[in-house]
Amino acid sequence: MNANEIRKRFLDFQVKHGHKVIPPAPLVLDNDPTTLFTGSGMQPLLPYLLGQPHPEGTRLTDSQPSMRLQDIEDVGDPRHTTVFEMLGNWSLGDYFKKEQIENFFEFLTKEVGLNPEKIYVTCFIGNEKYGIPKDTEAAEIWQSVFQKAGVEAKIVEIGSAKHGDERGIKPGERIFFYDDKENWWSRGGGIETTPLGDPCGPDSEVFYDFGEDKQDVEKYGKSHPASDGARFMEIGNQVFMQYKRKEDGTFEELEHKNVDFGGGLERITAASIDSFDVFKISLLRPIVEKLEELSHKDYDNNTDEMRVIADHLRGAYLLAAQGLTPSNKAQGYALRRLVRRAVLRALDLGIGQDFLAQILPVIEENYRDLPDDILPCRNKVLEVLTKEENAFRKTITKGVKELQKLGSDQLLTGTELFKLQDTYGFPLELSIEEAYKLNLKLSDDYQAEFERALNAQRERSKTASKGMFKGGLSDTSNQTIKYHTACHLLLAALQQEIDPSINQKGSNLTPERLRFDFNIDRKLTPEELKKVEDRVNAWIAADLQVVFAEYEKDFAFDKLHAHGSFRDRYPDRVTVYAIGTGTPEDTPDTMDTSLVSIEICGGPHVSHTGELGHFRITKEESSSAGVRRIKAVLE
Ligand code: ALA
Repeated sequence: MNANEIRKRFLDFQVKHGHKVIPPAPLVLDNDPTTLFTGSGMQPLLPYLLGQPHPEGTRLTDSQPSMRLQDIEDVGDPRHTTVFEMLGNWSLGDYFKKEQIENFFEFLTKEVGLNPEKIYVTCFIGNEKYGIPKDTEAAEIWQSVFQKAGVEAKIVEIGSAKHGDERGIKPGERIFFYDDKENWWSRGGGIETTPLGDPCGPDSEVFYDFGEDKQDVEKYGKSHPASDGARFMEIGNQVFMQYKRKEDGTFEELEHKNVDFGGGLERITAASIDSFDVFKISLLRPIVEKLEELSHKDYDNNTDEMRVIADHLRGAYLLAAQGLTPSNKAQGYALRRLVRRAVLRALDLGIGQDFLAQILPVIEENYRDLPDDILPCRNKVLEVLTKEENAFRKTITKGVKELQKLGSDQLLTGTELFKLQDTYGFPLELSIEEAYKLNLKLSDDYQAEFERALNAQRERSKTASKGMFKGGLSDTSNQTIKYHTACHLLLAALQQEIDPSINQKGSNLTPERLRFDFNIDRKLTPEELKKVEDRVNAWIAADLQVVFAEYEKDFAFDKLHAHGSFRDRYPDRVTVYAIGTGTPEDTPDTMDTSLVSIEICGGPHVSHTGELGHFRITKEESSSAGVRRIKAVLE
């Protein structure tokens, strides 16, 4: 059976059991500040799981395209994909554990035809701290379901999945109790990390057994369902969603007990053909075959690259078909990343120009039966993604040129290699390969130096994502960070050269320019603009130190006189960035005699203004009544 047939069977089966089929939600979410993409079938149903009546009733089903970008680094192994379809069924205060467990078991064994001997399940062991009991009820229902199918099913307590690592499973064992790391479901993961206000509950996961493999045992030890290793693969999860996390952190019973079932279509299909490799199923195999054809290489020897390309382009296809375009912002950036990573792997395989034009039709074929309202922009996918492919290829060409410029008699350092990656998007592996071709030598410690630069950048990005909704940063590339620091210098220069009452009214940063809005009721003269520009450039030339620390809000405003436009809207503790003469050990409150700028800000910033380059104002214009706008570049 192929994936399309299994999807259809699932929905038909659920309809037979009284469910209404609901249309899947868009993959790309516009209004949810907590996630960028739909990551599970329950996500669009949150209000109904919390008690609001659903117009279609209390039994629902769908197949929801989902994306979990957090799994991107795992793609390349046999089972992880960033994008997948989640088969789902829900009981909104209707049936509960018994019906659900019987339902899924029947679907797997009768409809998909899995051998019940190969099915293993897990249940929740309970949590004393929060007074959540052990789910003996689910375990006993499973036991009777297996017994009816003539399969022995002993119940075992393991607790933490890590503890059982060497134990494997003993004959007859089939139902395993684990702690909340495995068998508690909320959008935040385990019990402690359940988001406040969210529905949640114990879950019971279902695994398929692909059999013991010698190499796998050597690598991971003997498997049990939730341990590492390739023997068992989770194919479905039934959440008994009966709690809500209250604002005080404790759990209260929901008025209605719900079932939230999600099963990976790709994984169930893989189990149905007894293949531990999901890339062998009908939704992915044709892409892999096309890659073999284009590269004249075989999958068995190029599995990692081919899996990454197949997964990423399928994801990119679905995102673009829903109208997303690549950009440097949140979701658009994710799409850009998927395409670029795929193009790079294609280069590794020796596949050249226009490879998207060859692959995308193969992917499209798989989704031909999906209605247009689910993929409204499917006709534009090729154009949109090919444009991105071409732009990235140009980036790569530019990177190669930069590398050549560095000359063959010079040692390439890790810092230079990092700059190539960060500024031109030219990845380290490519630099190394090109350097080799061009006969350029690498410094001995280039790798360590590259890592250091990369980690420093990551630290800056972390600060950036914390301040994501405050700082107005559209991405966290090095160039954007520089523009952010330039904004602080610009505000200080405007205050010192033009009017101390000037304040920021808004800003927008891209890797190409800054835009800065501020209050003043007249146009600035060319002389004034020149003074502001010169002042900023003088501070850049002085290579000032940038430091930051956290303070009580009142202290920051009243004692440090930090600038901040939204005093009432800031939290009680705020981060303050200061620029002045000082050392990295300084904090804003120790730099007070030499301060150039002090602002409340989520960051990130460069550590020295010397990194900024030359500052030039390109435009001064009106933004709205009493507000002017400056655009400027760093050169
Ligand atoms: N919401 C559950 C999951 O994502 C079914 O695993």
